[in-house]
Amino acid sequence: MDRNLALEFVRVTEAAALSVARWIGKGDEKEADRAAVESMRKAFDSIRFDGTVVIGEGERDEAPMLFIGEKIGPGEGPKIEIACDPLEGTTITALGRSEALSVIAAGEPGNLLHAPDTYMDKIAVGPAAKGVIDITKSPTWNLKEIAKASQKTVEDLMVIILDRPRHADLIAEVRAAGARIRLIGDGDVSAAIAAARPNAGVDALIGIGGAPEGVIAAAALRVMGGDMQGVLKFRNDHERARAKKMGITDENRVYTIEDLARGNVMFIATGITNGSYLQGVRYFGGGAHTHSIVMRSETGTIREIHTDHHFSKKPRYGW
Ligand code: FBP
Repeated sequence: MDRNLALEFVRVTEAAALSVARWIGKGDEKEADRAAVESMRKAFDSIRFDGTVVIGEGERDEAPMLFIGEKIGPGEGPKIEIACDPLEGTTITALGRSEALSVIAAGEPGNLLHAPDTYMDKIAVGPAAKGVIDITKSPTWNLKEIAKASQKTVEDLMVIILDRPRHADLIAEVRAAGARIRLIGDGDVSAAIAAARPNAGVDALIGIGGAPEGVIAAAALRVMGGDMQGVLKFRNDHERARAKKMGITDENRVYTIEDLARGNVMFIATGITNGSYLQGVRYFGGGAHTHSIVMRSETGTIREIHTDHHFSKKPRYGW
């Protein structure tokens, strides 16, 4: 994949973040999401590539834009598949809380799992625990292995878990095993990244979140040298049928990090609200500052990009 595309794609997440920033704390999830999708869609069209959305806002009948299968970009140039989450953290944004991102993962055709918009049970860890996790075993077993591989005790570990009623048993088990927990309201992409970042003070993300977010996080962890496993979780027969239509037949299949994001992939994200890694959009007179990361698996390069946007001097993709 052309390495310059990674730097082009950052304009896309920047555009979405700049649009969404106007909706921080306004209590309107729908409008925040709409702003992100519209800007991301327009910004994609400014980049020379032949893109297809493989993970987006849902299927064509439920998403007017960035639906699965939608063609994006002018249609000339390299063929690239895109997994996007224009606004990862709609509730976070509406409430003005931390860790909202605009994010995309990109790969050559076939590199990113075409995951249905369902849930996924996930374990994500950093480089120290690569190769030791097994999602078919209990959280207690995994915590012991993660601790051993990281030369820590289980009591030293910090595990991020989405604060949801469905995780009551998981939380009880992790506590009983002795590990510490950070319960988060939303945003398991940035939680997975935190597990792989040195000195972030997080050892693992465990639990059920979105499957699309799982694929996007896997692209980042591939670059960061972390590890991840996931199993799709369907809530009903409708989701099961949709997954079947996408070629998923084995409900219990364990997806490794390579199954989720294989070969050359890129991960690009821009902060919307402040987070532990990325700063959110900050306005100055006549413009705004954004903070982004651009990662490429081919070289393992991780770039942080701080950008000053001067509103009077550049094309505005809806913001
Ligand atoms: P959105 O902002 O796209 O809705 O996602 C937020 C999020 O917290 C994800 O990070 C996570 O994977 C998913 O929602 C969990 O789903 P649910 O809120 O249904 O538990």
